[in-house]
Amino acid sequence: MPAHHAVRRRRIVARRVPIALFGAGLVEAILDDTLIALEDPNDRNGDGVSGRAGFVVDVGTGERRVGRFGWKSQHATLLAFSGDAYRNEMGITNDLFPLEAALRRHRRSDAGLRSIPDPEDIRDPRTRRRGIDNFASFMQFLAPVGRGPVDDQVRAGERVFSSIGCAACHVPTLTTGPSSNPLFNRRTVPLFSDLLLHEVGTGDGIKQPPGEANELRTPALWGLRFRRPLLHDGSAATVVDAILRHGQEAELARRGFERASDADRRGAAGFSAIALSRNGAYGDSGNGGHGDNGLTRRNEATENGTEKTITGTSRATCPLCGQ
Ligand code: HEC
Repeated sequence: MPAHHAVRRRRIVARRVPIALFGAGLVEAILDDTLIALEDPNDRNGDGVSGRAGFVVDVGTGERRVGRFGWKSQHATLLAFSGDAYRNEMGITNDLFPLEAALRRHRRSDAGLRSIPDPEDIRDPRTRRRGIDNFASFMQFLAPVGRGPVDDQVRAGERVFSSIGCAACHVPTLTTGPSSNPLFNRRTVPLFSDLLLHEVGTGDGIKQPPGEANELRTPALWGLRFRRPLLHDGSAATVVDAILRHGQEAELARRGFERASDADRRGAAGFSAIALSRNGAYGDSGNGGHGDNGLTRRNEATENGTEKTITGTSRATCPLCGQ
C-alpha cells in the first residue's frame, strides 16, 4: 500500500435503526441452502440484481453459516445475535463475547479486572440454560406482525410490486427447513426479503463483515406499517421516500416505480405501506397473548425504536492515485 494511503482512512459515524425482532425465529429456521439458491453475485440472469449470501463463522458453533440478522447480515443464529447484543448494546460480557467492547478494540484481556465469573453465564442447574440462551428463546418465539385482509386493491398493488422488480430482492415468501418443533417445521415465512446483501446506493461506507462498505441486507418488509423512519439510517420518512432512494442494483425497479402511472405508484407504495402490515394473516388481530400459530404475539404498539450510532473507518478514493 503506498504510504500516502495511510491518510485517507477517515472515521465515519453512521446511524442505524434497530431492526424489529418479530418473526426472528422463523427467519432463523430458513436453511442456508434456501438463501444460497437465491444468490446471483455475477448477475447471470441479467436483471441488474446481484445479491450474495453473507457468510459468517457462527461464534456459537464455529460453523460457516449464512448470516441473516443485522443490517449487514452479521449473525446467522439468534444465540450469537443475543451474545452480541448483551455485550454491545447492554455492556454485559458473556460466554460468546467475553471481552469488554472497549478492551477488545485494544486487544487487551480483562482477566485482571474480574474477581468472580459473570453470574448470567452460570447455567441454571434445572434448565442448563444461561442468560443468553433465555434471551435467544424470547426472540425465537416472537410472532411476526401478521398481514391484513387481501382485497382487490392490495392484489393490484402486489402485482405492480412484482412486475416492476421489487420482488427480485423483497422475495414475498421463503420456507423454513425441517424442524422437530412444528412451529418452525417447513413453515411459509411471508417476510418480503431474500436476506441477501445488495448495493442499492444507500450504503454508509462502513465495512462490517460479511457486508462490504456499501452493502446492506434486504430488510424484511413485514410489519412496515409500524416502522418509521425507514432505511438503515432512518433517512427516509415515508415509503415513497425509501423507494425513491433505491439505486444501483435496484435502479431498474426504482425507474419502474417512477414510470408507473399514479394509480400504480399508489398501488405499489400502498401495498408496501399497508398491505404488508395489517394484522390478520396469523389468525387473530394481534392484541396480546398467543396467536393461533403458537408464537408470542406483540401488543399493538409501534416499533419506533431508538436509533443507535455505529462507528467505523472507510477508505475514501485517494486524491493522488484515484484508487
Ligand atoms: C436490489 C435489491 C432491491 C430491490 C430490487 C428493491 N429493494 Fe427495497 N431495499 C433493498 C435494500 C438493500 C434496502 C435497505 C436499504 C437501506 O436501508 O439503506 C431496501 C429498503 C426498502 C424499504 C425500506 C424498509 C425499511 O425497513 O427501512 C422499502 C419500503 C423498500 N425497500 C421497498 C421497495 C420497493 C417498493 C421496491 C420496488 C420499487 C424495492 N424496494 C426494490 C433492496 C432492494
